[in-house]
Amino acid sequence: EKGGWSSFMAKEISEEPEAVANTILGRVHDGQVVIPELDGLDELFAGISRIVIVGAGTAAYSAFVGKYAIEQWARIPVEVELAHEFRYRDPLVGPDVLVISISQSGETMDTLMAVKEATRLGAKTLSICNTQGATIPRESDAVVYLHAGPEVAVASTKAFVAQITGLYLFALHVARIRGTVTPELQADAIQELADLPDKIRWILENEQERIEQLAHWMADTRSVLFLGRHVGYPIALEGALKLKEISYIHAEGFAAGELKHGPIALVEPGLPVFVVVPSPSGAPVLHAKVVSNIQEIRARGARVIAIAEAGDAAVLPHADEVLRIPLAGPLFEPILAVVPLHIFAMGLANAKGLDVDQPRNLAKSVTVE
Ligand code: BG6
Repeated sequence: EKGGWSSFMAKEISEEPEAVANTILGRVHDGQVVIPELDGLDELFAGISRIVIVGAGTAAYSAFVGKYAIEQWARIPVEVELAHEFRYRDPLVGPDVLVISISQSGETMDTLMAVKEATRLGAKTLSICNTQGATIPRESDAVVYLHAGPEVAVASTKAFVAQITGLYLFALHVARIRGTVTPELQADAIQELADLPDKIRWILENEQERIEQLAHWMADTRSVLFLGRHVGYPIALEGALKLKEISYIHAEGFAAGELKHGPIALVEPGLPVFVVVPSPSGAPVLHAKVVSNIQEIRARGARVIAIAEAGDAAVLPHADEVLRIPLAGPLFEPILAVVPLHIFAMGLANAKGLDVDQPRNLAKSVTVE
């Protein structure tokens, strides 16, 4: 089933464009996002005062990205919580709260138990899931299926980009109902989403080989940091998680603004640091701040690998390597910025001769608490 690919992970990364495209399919009508599965729930979405998103691992990081879009477009406060933490802390949710669970498999026990607890407390539950008929969607009041296709490699890749896409569609669906976005903004966002598959393809075609080469050179690396800001922050966490999971290298993701409050103490000559750089035109203030973070770590000898917009000239003098991504609006950039990080993690595991699809100690879906 791998086709000509060396691993399921390689195949699934190559399917990231289709995962995004198929998640959007059938959910745009007359220039607006309408998710047919959520038909009949307008009153619920109009009335909720808060959203809590629960998940584990990569799914939880997609939730972090989704929070920015839901708050910006639908103007509903969103909390993201690890499912296993939510379950055991007497959470403050009730009928005015929507609890969204994110799960690729739909079988993760931690997430299932959080959904059951939310239901017990009277909250409405929505499952965003990639696996038809799985347990979590069956236990939820509503479900939005992603259509990323089956994911076999333990480390989640195409499901992650589909999860963010699904959350963005949900945000636009609810924003339409609540009247919190103008038709122009709705149209712009839909265009941005529709353009993502080709932009991901651009990365695969133009950067994949170079990233794999870089990973090969870095096969002896013992520790890697990842920095990001705003929506780039959860992407940094995801980049670090993926590297840990399949290459067994110590990796940590940080919010770039947190650097001076602690992590900068870790920086020593030669330490590789990946930095997700916001768009200079789309987010100039954040861009300037991240470039100054890069200067701070570079001054201490870090080896900076920037993930930056192609054409971002300001970052060039400060980075040792620049992995390029196409231009996209600030909220859409994470769906592009994560692709080089997925490729890098796979490249490094391959360079170390590891089984990228079946990393030690991990299971694709963890059905115990
Ligand atoms: C973990 C997997 O145990 O479960 C991760 O190893 C995954 O890759 C996490 O992100 C959550 O899984 P799911 O199926 O609920 O999205």
